[in-house]
Amino acid sequence: MFPENFIWGAATAAYQIEGAVAEDGRGPSVWDDLVRQPGRIWEGHTGETACDHYHRWREDVALMKEIGLRAYRFSIAWPRVLPEGAGAPNEKGLAFYDRLVDALLDAGIQPWVTLFHWDYPLALYRRGGWLSPDSPSWFADYTALVARRLGDRVAGWFTHNEPQCFIGVGLQEGRHAPGLKLGLSDVLVAAHHTLLAHGRAVQTLRAHVRKDAKIGWAPIGHVHVPATGSAADIAAAKRATFSIENDFMKNNTWWSDPVYLGRYPEDGLARFAPHLPKITDADLREIHQPLDLCGLNIYTAERLVRAGPDGRAVTVAEPPGFAMTHMRGTVHPEALYYGAKFFHERYRLPICITENGLSCADWVARDGGVHDPNRIDFLSRYLGEFARAGHEGVPLAGYFQWSLLDNFEWAQGYQHRFGLVHVDFATQKRTLKDSARWYRETIAANGANC
Ligand code: NOJ
Repeated sequence: MFPENFIWGAATAAYQIEGAVAEDGRGPSVWDDLVRQPGRIWEGHTGETACDHYHRWREDVALMKEIGLRAYRFSIAWPRVLPEGAGAPNEKGLAFYDRLVDALLDAGIQPWVTLFHWDYPLALYRRGGWLSPDSPSWFADYTALVARRLGDRVAGWFTHNEPQCFIGVGLQEGRHAPGLKLGLSDVLVAAHHTLLAHGRAVQTLRAHVRKDAKIGWAPIGHVHVPATGSAADIAAAKRATFSIENDFMKNNTWWSDPVYLGRYPEDGLARFAPHLPKITDADLREIHQPLDLCGLNIYTAERLVRAGPDGRAVTVAEPPGFAMTHMRGTVHPEALYYGAKFFHERYRLPICITENGLSCADWVARDGGVHDPNRIDFLSRYLGEFARAGHEGVPLAGYFQWSLLDNFEWAQGYQHRFGLVHVDFATQKRTLKDSARWYRETIAANGANC
């Protein structure tokens, strides 16, 4: 069973659903720029129209109500409210989110806001982006603008979504916007500024938003899952979960240790030693702000492991035919159990799954419905594992299914469908999938069916 006040939600992100990229004074983001570059996005897809949520938000809120959502996590498009990223605000952009928040509250749905879900203002990118020492204050000023406008009504706030991805994939690997392949020294500067921006934003939120609002962030939880329940395998998996295994920014501790513990991890400091930026105690104090929950985006296991002879994790291959998602991710429900356990043991906060969901090949059937038994099975297994962690004493704060709507899956275009609601991108017709009805029952039963 889940706790009584458990937050049952679904999540989206602005660029993935809103469309209307040049409307009502919105400025361009790095994603608007990337999608126009040939060969960057699957089939040349863009988020220019996406789910047209900017115009269809009333219909979408009605769907959320029909599904019985208690909470909705959405992101603010920074360049919609500040077209240049800094300076003059765009009233029409702010008014859009203002109306959305009111409509959610009218429908009995708590608004949860993500401040940064990757659509970085192009104007600020041209001034240095996350590499600029001014970037934390740009982010804090943007946060203050949004917090002043919405802070009296929003139930929860997340600063960054998946910093590992927008720095690791965006600035290091170059597959996501802004599409850079920077060297490690520059990547670490950008990462440090990202963390400072988080810290400044949390302080800004505390000053401007309602006192009972929950504040956190939403990094990826890269969970190493033990192949068996033996103490040795579990210890190896946990150790691997909190180790820095390579130079790629997709890890947990380089990001979350400073945020929750006020220090960078020793193994990372040793590994990155020749490339480290200047890091002061004052910086770490700024980054290390008290948070109310530990947000985690978890879809799969990073690796399935067992303990080797020295106790360290050795990868175990999944057997042939192992369950796979449409995006070629492995299905590991126990990642929510071990993820919740490991992260709670290390950071001592209630766990909030800020994203979890399944990409499927869904389509509208001849009977007009969208039948997605795999998604129902996937969600119930993952939720069941999350509940298991709760039974063992881990405080569970909430769960945001990804995603409310099928949407623009970044470099992979529209080829993967994650929604509880099917979107026909030619007509913008929305159809509730079977999983949406199942989720409604699940919420009503407070997860007793999982
Ligand atoms: C991670 C991201 O936060 C979200 O934008 C993306 O669509 C999903 N996970 C699925 O890949």
